[in-house]
Amino acid sequence: MSWFYRRLVRPVFFKQDPEEVHTLTMRWLGRVSRNAVASEALEAMCDAPLLPVDLFGLRFPNPVGLAAGMDKSAEAVPAWKSLGFGHTELGAVTWHAQPGNDKPRIFRSPPTEAIINRMGFNNPGAEAVAEELAHWRAIGRWPKHPVGINLGKSKVTPLSQAPGDYASSFRALRPHADFFVVNVSSPNTPNLRKLQDKSALEEILVAIQEANTASRRETAKPILVKVAPDLTPDALDEILNLAMDRNLSGLIATNTTISRPESTDALVRKVYTETGGLSGKPVRERSTEVIHHLYRQSKGKLPLIGVGGIFTVEDAWEKITAGASLIQLYTGFIYEGPTLPKQIVQGLAEKLRTHGFKTISEAVGTAHQ
Ligand SMILES: Cc1cc2nc3c(=O)[nH]c(=O)nc-3n(C[C@H](O)[C@H](O)[C@H](O)COP(=O)(O)O)c2cc1C
Repeated sequence: MSWFYRRLVRPVFFKQDPEEVHTLTMRWLGRVSRNAVASEALEAMCDAPLLPVDLFGLRFPNPVGLAAGMDKSAEAVPAWKSLGFGHTELGAVTWHAQPGNDKPRIFRSPPTEAIINRMGFNNPGAEAVAEELAHWRAIGRWPKHPVGINLGKSKVTPLSQAPGDYASSFRALRPHADFFVVNVSSPNTPNLRKLQDKSALEEILVAIQEANTASRRETAKPILVKVAPDLTPDALDEILNLAMDRNLSGLIATNTTISRPESTDALVRKVYTETGGLSGKPVRERSTEVIHHLYRQSKGKLPLIGVGGIFTVEDAWEKITAGASLIQLYTGFIYEGPTLPKQIVQGLAEKLRTHGFKTISEAVGTAHQ
């Protein structure tokens, strides 16, 4: 399947506009999601074997999740489990519905297996996404894996009112998802990344945590923060200390980068002039470095989700042994196709056998020993 995708499907996809391919694929996955027989057929081809991970009170059937940005409006919630993912991170969702930046806003760089995007949090708004999620449950199509939501700030909301904006989205979505990710690391909303500063981030976390513990009847939902790969070690340490002080469930490392590696290829250089966040192979190494740093500084006490440039089993293993308890894919999935989650889970099971580990948790952070 992976050969079939790379040789036959991907060339056809890559001749078309990236966002159009995305829109059409999402529409198709939405239709599959509503149809039990079609979902079973997809599952028969792509579902991954069990390789469970227990983390923040949730059971993940396998450690390979779908990264934020692919399903921003909860359009195909059941399909991601059929495609073999062990969890899904939907969004980014903002309190206000918003169209995002002008098109074109996604650019491929095939020679470096990368993508640049400046989507700008296009999404139908938190209340509409909450309704969509309620609908998937009501029709009995809720997936059998944890579903998280990536929360962003609405573009119209000034930075000073960010805590209220995030908390409003959280309140609307809280009953509908298993965990939440505070995204202050996207490069595509003006000044958003300033919210990674300690005091600004703390205010957001306080507002969300208040809403999280307001109801005594419901248990609090796990809250994580997603960090940029462009932060200095000191800035990472500040976020880490804050996360530990505030008892967060974990950190996600990393988002896309605003940096651009050198290239002698004219096509690549042209793509790299586009404004936005770079993902895929060029971000892999830096993202792993950030995971190493966070794991070392926290002495392995704070769970990490590793994302950035994972295309192969080796890439996934590198993130896990650096300190990631779970991993996520976005760009690798676009380049390698729908069987990538399954291939990585199968490969990780093999890695565990080779190294004499029984579970993924035993392998986490072992590069530090
Ligand atoms: C088109 C696109 C849209 C994205 N949108 C979001 C988003 O809304 N929120 C977020 O936290 N990350 C977003 N990301 C970043 C990914 O979740 C991921 O952190 C990053 O791409 C690195 O992983 P990768 O190399 O596997 O793609 C987006 C990435 C892409 C390519």
